[in-house]
Amino acid sequence: MTAPDVRAATCTVDGRPITLPQTGTESLWDVLEDHGVALPLGCASGHCGSCTVLLDGVPVPSCLVPHAEARGRSVATVATAADDALVAAMAEHGAVQCGFCSPGIVVTLSWLLRTTAAVGQPITADDVRNALTGHLCRCTGYTAVVQAAVSAASKISAASKAADR
Ligand code: FES
Ligand code: FES
Repeated sequence: MTAPDVRAATCTVDGRPITLPQTGTESLWDVLEDHGVALPLGCASGHCGSCTVLLDGVPVPSCLVPHAEARGRSVATVATAADDALVAAMAEHGAVQCGFCSPGIVVTLSWLLRTTAAVGQPITADDVRNALTGHLCRCTGYTAVVQAAVSAASKISAASKAADR
């Protein structure tokens, strides 16, 4: 009998290797929780965005991703995916109230900033609103979140241009 390939049933989470189940249909969120990685779980059906992580650099709702999809891949939670300028801007603009939605929003908007402002592409409030599709926030009305992301984008853009000079 061939032994199961244990190496294939691993992924890295914030740079730390973790073992994934060889079988079963639990979500990536379930497995992360089993390994002590705490992420907010709202709807558990892909609609609220609270559980968002980066999978190989792309935002996904971890409650919808079967753990087998993460094999051999890299997962980043808000612990390593957060952009410092965005986090500072969110605090400054009062964009975090109860905070339940914030980890997922920070993961997605940090990804947006890294793939746009940080590489010299401007972003608008509409770009931020589009990126927030699939993220529900009951407290802020989104305005402060959008303002914070646009403000962080302009700081990141300016720093990136200064570094190129
Ligand atoms: S808990 Fe995953 S999208 Fe709502
Ligand atoms: S800050 Fe409370 S749900 Fe967004």
